[in-house]
Amino acid sequence: MSNKIPLVIKSIEEMSEFVFTHWDKTIGFVPTMGYLHQGHLSLVESSLRDNELTVVSIFVNPTQFGENEDFDKYPRDLDNDLKLMSTLDVDVVFYPEYREIYPDGYKTFVEVYDIGNRYCGKSRPIHFRGVTTIVCKLLNIVKPTLMYMGEKDFQQVYILEKMIDDLNISSSIVRCPIIRESDGLAMSSRNVYLSENERKSALCLYQSMLLTKEMFLAGETDVAKVRAKMEEMILTNNGHIDYIAFINNDNFEEEQVLTSDSRVLLAVKFGTTRLIDNIRLWQ
Ligand code: PAJ
Repeated sequence: MSNKIPLVIKSIEEMSEFVFTHWDKTIGFVPTMGYLHQGHLSLVESSLRDNELTVVSIFVNPTQFGENEDFDKYPRDLDNDLKLMSTLDVDVVFYPEYREIYPDGYKTFVEVYDIGNRYCGKSRPIHFRGVTTIVCKLLNIVKPTLMYMGEKDFQQVYILEKMIDDLNISSSIVRCPIIRESDGLAMSSRNVYLSENERKSALCLYQSMLLTKEMFLAGETDVAKVRAKMEEMILTNNGHIDYIAFINNDNFEEEQVLTSDSRVLLAVKFGTTRLIDNIRLWQ
């Protein structure tokens, strides 16, 4: 493990200069909102392994938060993030301020229709429009060969792949597996909001998905039956279900019966904290 303090770049102009100067190198890019944990670090490690240079962005993007959401209290700790980045040998941390990204008079949004309105998009109507807009801008600025994204946010990665394809953007996405705490809770910057009791209750998410997987592997394909079992388990643990969805892993269509291509996605609130998770049924 070495300690190379990354170059912190705050302006788009300087970031573009860096990219221009290193035109002959492969750049791996990891967009984040900071407050980094092992889930983020696993993406960074993959980028470092595959590319000559690695750029990590830290920007809590206001356009993907609804009015009543947690933009103001979203956890931030730049010092610790930079420490983590230096232990990993990251080359650049791109850390722009709000006005650098959205100057006065900013007017443009990028939107992937239909799929951005389902599931998380239903309860967070402007969320994916904000995500696609910021990621499109970051891709235009950083121009990476590969961008690393977690399957933790499965709908997000699917939508961004569609955007990249539809807009002929020349970067490709590398999907990375979900990193979990030792007890199964998916790592998330938002886990710090959970009280001790909520943290314990939240384990039912992974457990309920494992139960579904077990039922499927034992031959159950009836969506209604497995949904009922999951709901029962989550409600018993005081979770407020936003959605439980069974989708096809490849085309994101809702599954009528479970198959080896199915993936279960969920969003559940514990207290005021909304958590998302998902699992592939066959793997
Ligand atoms: P953020 O929530 O900070 O996540 C940044 C990246 O880390 C995303 O690709 C996310 O899927 C991945 N990630 C988070 N938790 C993970 C886990 N437990 N295992 C594996 N990967 C994990 O997602 C965003 O930020 C923003 O929407 C962003 C894409 C940066 C646009 O603002």
